[in-house]
Amino acid sequence: MDYLQIQGLSHLGGEVIISGAKNAALPLIAMTLLAKNNVTITNIPDVKDIKTLLKLLEHLGATFTHDEHSVNINTSHIIHTKATYEIVKTMRASILVLGPLLAREGHCEVSLPGGCAIGQRPIDLHLKALEMMGAKITIHGGYVYAEAKDGLKGAHIIFDKITVTGTANIIMAAALAHGKTTITNAAREPEVVQLCEVLRNSGVNIEGVGTSELVIYGSDRRLLEISPFEIIPDRIEAGTYLCAAAITKDTLTLEKVRPDHLESVIGKLEEMGFSFDTSTDSITIHPTEVIKPVSIVTQEYPAFPTDMQAQFMALCTQAEGTSIIEERLFENRFMHVSELQRLGADIKLNAKLATITGTTELNGADVMATDLRASSALVLAGLIANGTTRVHRIYHLDRGYEKLESKLKSIGADIERLSE
Ligand code: UD1
Repeated sequence: MDYLQIQGLSHLGGEVIISGAKNAALPLIAMTLLAKNNVTITNIPDVKDIKTLLKLLEHLGATFTHDEHSVNINTSHIIHTKATYEIVKTMRASILVLGPLLAREGHCEVSLPGGCAIGQRPIDLHLKALEMMGAKITIHGGYVYAEAKDGLKGAHIIFDKITVTGTANIIMAAALAHGKTTITNAAREPEVVQLCEVLRNSGVNIEGVGTSELVIYGSDRRLLEISPFEIIPDRIEAGTYLCAAAITKDTLTLEKVRPDHLESVIGKLEEMGFSFDTSTDSITIHPTEVIKPVSIVTQEYPAFPTDMQAQFMALCTQAEGTSIIEERLFENRFMHVSELQRLGADIKLNAKLATITGTTELNGADVMATDLRASSALVLAGLIANGTTRVHRIYHLDRGYEKLESKLKSIGADIERLSE
């Protein structure tokens, strides 16, 4: 198994190019199940999760050509409708095939994703919404069996909680359904907005794009002609590199980003004392002498993202004073705390609240990555720790960060990938 070895205290600088957003690419690849034509997608990030989803589509009967950053997918011959446990267990986002497969084929079987390191993560809201659209759902032997022989019917869905992949699943299902679907309390993440925009450009009438109330007029099960499109930049990868420059107190420029997708993250960094120059597709962060403590509450977009919580926790260890982070989305998303403590961080946990007192001097150690974003927080801490930090189980990082160590190396970090 690979691990990352980081020698702390080197300085960062220069430019880093941000990859396409994994969380936009995943639903958009699943969406190709709604297409009657070959779909070309560019700016695909070269990460494991994308390969896992393509493998799932291939198993369903799709064919594709895939080079590093683009893919051309043909889903005209779907021969299976089962997303097996073997694939779903490695990536929860496989659940994204549920809505489009059911809408197109009239039935499908998808393994229940189960829990994961950051919490329970049920899919009850996805299932309830599909039932409201006329699907008959049964759960048996760890699988969801969904059936809607004559296709799904438009309905008024009110999500009790905002769910990102739940909203994406229902948008895709609604695009092929009979009649009009209204989604109240829809997620507004940029990745959901891009899904709506691509569908709209393919002839689906969608109102309210970017708001929490979406109205989708279904195609009566007619497959869609989907034009080529480019994945939006990854706001979480971008936020992670901003934290890398912030923690090492260096100037760094990010290219191919959308600053407008990062307002809450940039806002928090400004509160901490950092300053920025932005253009429509680049951001330069400038350091601050004194990092001020902050108070952070993770919430749905456009509020502060839970996917940036761990990275900010690493940064807060260098703030002068006490910072507070409240995790509102996932009950168990503090697995990185004990690993940051191994490096010397002063963090107290009380249920959903973490209190971080800085400034602490961090010292290199062996640490274990527990999930995707937790892993990047450990890398950030390693950048400023004295001596050597080894981050183990980095397969988590490979799921979602494209070439993390070579990108960090190119901006000055002393980091290498080694085998156990
Ligand atoms: C997506 C992102 C993930 C991010 C998360 C929150 C993708 C592929 N993943 O995950 O990176 O951390 O949004 O921004 O885009 N919930 C239920 N029942 C459901 C569905 C969700 O109770 O049926 C709860 C979850 O347990 C959680 C909250 O709703 O507490 C939000 O989860 P959700 O938005 O669905 O997260 P994902 O879409 O899985």
